[in-house]
Amino acid sequence: MTDWLWEYEGYDPAGERLREALCTLGNGYVATRGAAPECTAGEAHYPGTYVAGCYNRLTSTVSGREVENEDVVNLPNWLPLRFRTAGGDDGPGPWFTPDGDGLREHRQRLDLFGGTLERTVRYAAADGRELTVRQLRLVHMADPHIACLRTEFTAEGWSGAIEVESAVDGGVTNSGVARYRRLDGHHLVDVGAGDGDEDVVWLRCRTRTSDIRVGVAARTTAEGAAGRERPRSDHEPTRAVQRLELSLADGQPRTVDKTVALHTSRDTAISDPLHAAADRVRRAPGFDELLESHRTAWRQLWRRADLDVPGEAGRILRLHLFHVLQTLSPHTADLDVGVPARGLHGEAYRGHVFWDELFVLPYLNLRFPEVSRALLTYRYRRLDQAGVLARDAGRRGAMYPWQSGSDGREETQQLHLNPRSGRWLPDHSRLQHHVGSAIAYNVWQYCEASGDTEFLHTKGAEMLVRIARFWADAAQWDPEKARYRIRGVVGPDEYHEAYPDADGPGLDDNAYTNVTAAWVIARALDLVRDLPEPRRVDLLERTTLEPGEMEHWREVSTRLYVPFHAGVISQFHGYGELEELDWAGLRARHGDIRRLDRVLEAEGDTVNRYQASKQADVLMLGYLFSPAELRALFARLGYDLDDETWQRTVDYYLRRTSHGSTLSGLVHGWVLSRVRRKEAWDYCREALEGDVADLQGGTTEEGVHLGAMAGTLDLVQRGLTGMETRAGSLWFDPVPSPGLTEYGFTMRYHGHWGVRVSVRPGELRIGLPPSPDGPPIEIRLGGRSAVLEPGTSCVLPLPEE
Ligand code: BGC
Repeated sequence: MTDWLWEYEGYDPAGERLREALCTLGNGYVATRGAAPECTAGEAHYPGTYVAGCYNRLTSTVSGREVENEDVVNLPNWLPLRFRTAGGDDGPGPWFTPDGDGLREHRQRLDLFGGTLERTVRYAAADGRELTVRQLRLVHMADPHIACLRTEFTAEGWSGAIEVESAVDGGVTNSGVARYRRLDGHHLVDVGAGDGDEDVVWLRCRTRTSDIRVGVAARTTAEGAAGRERPRSDHEPTRAVQRLELSLADGQPRTVDKTVALHTSRDTAISDPLHAAADRVRRAPGFDELLESHRTAWRQLWRRADLDVPGEAGRILRLHLFHVLQTLSPHTADLDVGVPARGLHGEAYRGHVFWDELFVLPYLNLRFPEVSRALLTYRYRRLDQAGVLARDAGRRGAMYPWQSGSDGREETQQLHLNPRSGRWLPDHSRLQHHVGSAIAYNVWQYCEASGDTEFLHTKGAEMLVRIARFWADAAQWDPEKARYRIRGVVGPDEYHEAYPDADGPGLDDNAYTNVTAAWVIARALDLVRDLPEPRRVDLLERTTLEPGEMEHWREVSTRLYVPFHAGVISQFHGYGELEELDWAGLRARHGDIRRLDRVLEAEGDTVNRYQASKQADVLMLGYLFSPAELRALFARLGYDLDDETWQRTVDYYLRRTSHGSTLSGLVHGWVLSRVRRKEAWDYCREALEGDVADLQGGTTEEGVHLGAMAGTLDLVQRGLTGMETRAGSLWFDPVPSPGLTEYGFTMRYHGHWGVRVSVRPGELRIGLPPSPDGPPIEIRLGGRSAVLEPGTSCVLPLPEE
């Protein structure tokens, strides 16, 4: 079972916030960081509770400018539970805290299988009396509105009373990210506390501008309580407080259970959030029963997402899966939310939704397709807003925002702080219009994997057509090159935002943008052609798409310009003319130069001048498309992309990338394993360790990197197996990996549950569970194909290396 446990021995204030992020518990609706219940927000601690999709917008003044930001809101903290020895003649002792000098022992254990966080601490009071405290918490996976904390107190070598204070704290702000602290973080207003029935206390508040009402109710009970041991309310203006006194007999553990319910006015099937929360907590069963139903829900999730990878890699992958499922669980399927880049684990990137779903949905498609569908529906609901963004930019079609939040407007900040120089700088990352292609790609992949033609033929088709229209309109004919060009964009490598001496931001002909745009247009054309007639008529009417426009699309999708230089694909037009960076010199001066943009800006220079990228940009093409598909895409555009050119391109950018994003190691690992390169596993390992070792230096404590976490799962699922869900078949092209020679997983494909794929040296095995009406699956590997009937399995030998 140790593969399922993450244990932390000792107390390290400097590492506590990282632990809090990695020990977050959640259920796809809400998540709470693994902060100590007896601590409030401060240098070492940052308790945070976030409900998916609960945003609020505030205006702040920085550098004399008014800036508006929408943030996922840190909601009232339900964790607080502190304790001290009760008053003798000298009054009560001080509250115990790990930051005082009484801490004797501190242990934390995250149990991935059961979805619980256990904490054991031993404190010594000034008079030498010792108290052992064991806590077990959960954020319920079956009832997403419930969370509980069980605390067991044991007096060691003495008998006497302790005071316990249990609270729900509405006085919290968003202050988890140091870089944002000069921005207004006061999102909660009208905070009030009161008593409900049967020892239930409540706290209510609302978000300042989005006016989301929040109700939290709590019940704290001591086992076998009588008299003063019954909780007494003692509310403060922004805290609902219950106090009780607990008599302890030497060595006899006594437990206090805190059960909490949380609702917001965004929830369905409620009257008002406060009533819903109070009612829910009042009716909730006891801790043991809740623990049991919570564990059952997790067991079911693990069965659906079974992953069998040996060793340390497997341990980390399971942690990644755990956090992905805590952010995007089957409960998410009922919500109107997207993929938050940092999970529900912290406030970095303000809970915004970027293109990171490109690294998340391919994994979910083959496990929890209903969740993928909901995440795509989040995008569909904001399609009209993407139309508004395109119109405002003077374009047709749909231009999805680089950062999306509540209503789909562009949420990218206008200024960002370089902590190295202390300067606030204009942020042009909103020019990453390639996010639209990521959405289109996900629509396509989801439908291929799930067989959900209903979605493809309705919402999916409309999204594809409108995104394709944006690209076709953005492409301008250049008579000199006799090619279409897309100008003024930023590619996935967001370090390059402008040409070195240009007046304005934006680059021309980003290869990744252009090739994926051509792919989107081609897919939209195929789809319109293949739609059942009644659907095609509806779609053409809804989108006013006419044959002439489609003819133009066809032309654009075969004549978009892809720049090359020195025998490699250029990241953008003119990339090859930029200066070479003195990587060694810079490393010698600064050590870690992943955040090259900040390092150079602080030196008065700019990364725009150099051939140096933050993360995979051109190479993203090798992540999205198999070598054969990529070759075909280039051929459609009239370019010959042979293996040598691609290999040269891989080498070229490998030497010029600083990996300033956790996505970079992942994509490089993936691409290098496809071209069968030895160093592939080094990058895979970097992707695996991104969060557990906090490789980007202090970023994980602000929230996990969900794209990289899900991406590593997909690295095993599709990267190493070479699995593609294409044209109604399952294609495999496994690549050997020195770091991982045996692995297996269970997936869902075209309505089949529990499809088992396992790889061993020399063979690939696929098993299909019995399913009375399930259709057979066609498997393709190399030149061979096999038809697998439900209830059977097959073993395919792998080609020798
Ligand atoms: C990366 C983006 C990513 C964002 C959110 C940035 O550092 O460069 O590609 O979308 O983080 O995860």
